[in-house]
Amino acid sequence: MTASYEVRGEIAVITLNNPPVNGLGFETRRATAEGIARAEADAAVQAVLITGAGKAFSGGADIREFGSPKAMAEPNLPSLIAVVENCSKPVVAAIHSVCMGGGLELALGCHYRVAAPGAKIALPEVKLGLLPGAGGTQRLPRALGVEPALNMIVSGEPVASELLAQVPGQKLFQKIIEGDLLAGAIAFAQEVAAQRPLPKVRELRARHAEPQAFFQFARNMVGAQSRNFPAPLRCLEAVAASVFSKSFEEGIRVEREGFAALMQTPESKALRHAFFAERAASKIGDVPEDTPQRPIAKVAVIGAGTMGGGIAMNFLNAGLPVTLLETKQEALDRGIATIRKNYEAQVKKGKLKEDKYQQRMALLSSTLSYEDIREADLVIEAVFEELSVKEAVFKQLDAVMKPGAILATNTSTLDVNRIAAFTQRPQDVLGLHFFSPANVMKLLEVVRGEHTAKDVLATVMALAKKIKKTAVVSGVCDGFIGNRMIEQYSRQAGFLLDEGCTPQQVDRAVEQFGFAMGPFRMGDLAGNDIGWAIRKRRYVEKPHLRYSASADRLCELGRFGQKTGAGWYDYQPGKREAIPSPVVEALLSKHREAIGAKPRAISDEEIVQRLVFALVNEAAHLLEEGIAQRASDVDMVYLTGYGFPLWRGGPMCYADTVGLFNVVQAMQRFARNPADDAAFWEPAPLIKRLLAEGKSFT
Ligand code: NAI
Repeated sequence: MTASYEVRGEIAVITLNNPPVNGLGFETRRATAEGIARAEADAAVQAVLITGAGKAFSGGADIREFGSPKAMAEPNLPSLIAVVENCSKPVVAAIHSVCMGGGLELALGCHYRVAAPGAKIALPEVKLGLLPGAGGTQRLPRALGVEPALNMIVSGEPVASELLAQVPGQKLFQKIIEGDLLAGAIAFAQEVAAQRPLPKVRELRARHAEPQAFFQFARNMVGAQSRNFPAPLRCLEAVAASVFSKSFEEGIRVEREGFAALMQTPESKALRHAFFAERAASKIGDVPEDTPQRPIAKVAVIGAGTMGGGIAMNFLNAGLPVTLLETKQEALDRGIATIRKNYEAQVKKGKLKEDKYQQRMALLSSTLSYEDIREADLVIEAVFEELSVKEAVFKQLDAVMKPGAILATNTSTLDVNRIAAFTQRPQDVLGLHFFSPANVMKLLEVVRGEHTAKDVLATVMALAKKIKKTAVVSGVCDGFIGNRMIEQYSRQAGFLLDEGCTPQQVDRAVEQFGFAMGPFRMGDLAGNDIGWAIRKRRYVEKPHLRYSASADRLCELGRFGQKTGAGWYDYQPGKREAIPSPVVEALLSKHREAIGAKPRAISDEEIVQRLVFALVNEAAHLLEEGIAQRASDVDMVYLTGYGFPLWRGGPMCYADTVGLFNVVQAMQRFARNPADDAAFWEPAPLIKRLLAEGKSFT
């Protein structure tokens, strides 16, 4: 069923019914248009009600139709809205729960709208780099007023129905109905059944007292806030057309042109890619969606250091009780004090209410004894990164935890399969790799061990949603998806220094490309000693791999980054501003002399390509090895964990935008550079195959 039709007394009720959110797919549109036709033909019907079954009035376009011809099959949304608007009997939208995008545009085509309080009303198209393309930019300013409509369309954020009903002079909602919406809406429809002419939003005027000045001001504001994203300004121009155009139709033309232009922008393609990538990432190929889940009501975290505290906060925020376990009382006290400090900072900034803070702290307990955590459903270990320490912890956990408890490690470099083997229950063990700061960063790498049970995976994927993380599944390997790729990126960054770049030149180029932070500022933030430790291991394990030794020289000076007041940059006490360092400049000159390198000028374009294509090539290996499930998962890792620019859609989406042919051409060019590493630039077999088959990653 896609939309049902019934007659209640004199009122025809069309109920959109296309779970989960009554997306306006082809069948639903057709059934709705048919319902209007039936109501027209039935002399006994005096008015029509459109409402939604289940959890929504309508969430808008059916995302399953995105990009398929069905999306525009007639009746397309504008045609359906015309059918509704031209109905000779009054049509009332009865709105509840969610009314977004095309759903709101449909409602705006109705003659009247009534709503339950608390319904989320939005035109979120801008979040996909688009604008509302079925009259929303023309009708919402007419119904709600220009300023509030502009806010909604440019931000895409939902506003509660009862708040919108309070906007002075608004004609969006004729009534807010407390209690039984359907009964109230039917009563309303009966009241207005005989009124003529039928009110149409398109016939209202979109007015503003000072339209020229207002839109100029808004252009400046929106332009400044939406760098790299063309959609918000296009939205603004469409809304301006609702005021300045001679007719409704002319405004609609501006809207259509804007929509068509935005559809073609790489930014919108990237945003739509990211939207679908996020949904795809939550699915695991061989774990069916109806896999039973283990109940998670209590969580324990082992280790209350940098990561443990942040990890605990995620669960407290979601209302789950957490017990922190440490070896020493001081460590516990320190960990809890940090959690408090974090929450208090949020309270100070007005981001968290005092009572919420107290509620969260009340969910937190601490202990030095494993006896106190044995009933936990999930344990996350975040102790020192040493296999022997992990071994002791997992043996303890195996001895005390109740059967079926999920045992997770937050390790960033150790072998999850070896950790699982410390227990008699490897099926219950997996990696949950949080990123620092763990209470802030969206990314969660779910590391699937050789024996991890499917219901364990299903459980943590659902739990990740609950704690508002973007979970991406990774197989077991050194560095998992994100860090294994970043190592290649860092190696290239080192080669760039050898060849003559300064850290600030590399960082600037990468930041102009859109990364939140360049590799050297990032190193200073995370601590250069981490990479040093990894390199020392690599020199032994993989002596054939080349690394620039400049970072080793830096670490030998104790320049670990912000925490030591000096790294690739200098820092003033207590400040985070990265100041180019004469010490580093001298160090690099000396290093280049030592390796016999002649510095040359390197373009920003080359810098960016070498770093980003290094990520892409390693990701292609990860895909081939089955460590990453899909290219779009890699993009989610980089968008949510590594500050990759959203409007470029992630490294794989970016490579596709550049074109794999051009990517390989560039890699071959880099391989010919004697100062670079030819072996580094050997394209991964997957890239060669895709290229030969004329395919792309995404
Ligand atoms: P940390 O040194 O800040 O905290 C470790 C805590 O574990 C300390 O408070 C220590 O007292 C406690 N601890 C040590 N042995 C213990 C034991 N046997 N039982 C109970 N508690 C014990 O370390 P951090 O940075 O929080 O790292 C923890 C884990 O998270 C490591 O495996 C690390 O690789 C991983 N990780 C770290 C990230 C980071 O950015 N710091 C990012 C992602 C993962």
